[in-house]
Amino acid sequence: MAVKWTPDLSVGVSQIDEQHKLWFEKANELFEAGKEQRAKDYIKTLLDFLDEYTKQHFRDEEAYMKEIRYPELDAQTKAHASFVNDLTKLKNDYNNAGGNILVILNANKMVINWLTNHIRNMDKKIGDYVKTLNK
Ligand SMILES: [Fe+2]
Repeated sequence: MAVKWTPDLSVGVSQIDEQHKLWFEKANELFEAGKEQRAKDYIKTLLDFLDEYTKQHFRDEEAYMKEIRYPELDAQTKAHASFVNDLTKLKNDYNNAGGNILVILNANKMVINWLTNHIRNMDKKIGDYVKTLNK
């Protein structure tokens, strides 16, 4: 099963949607790498991507939520901070132990959780809120 961004996940601003699309692509690459037993090689690329990219993405997304006075900004900021926290832990594990099975499993768990719980639930609600503003 390929992991793909779908238009129903749009938050109503193309910059953020484009960032989410790239996020889905990277997640898909991780799952593909896993299927082909290459996850150990891919994990470093993924961790670097997540480190650089998600931090910028969170800043952009939070700025946008502020701009539209999004009521659930607080919950979003907390979720973003907790992701950054988990990522730091994962990076430390990787630096200490390399791309072992536990690091790969935790990376998978974190990515799946982000796609299904965060983007599909929390971020999608930003799009729903934007729609009410445009009415
Ligand atoms: Fe978010």
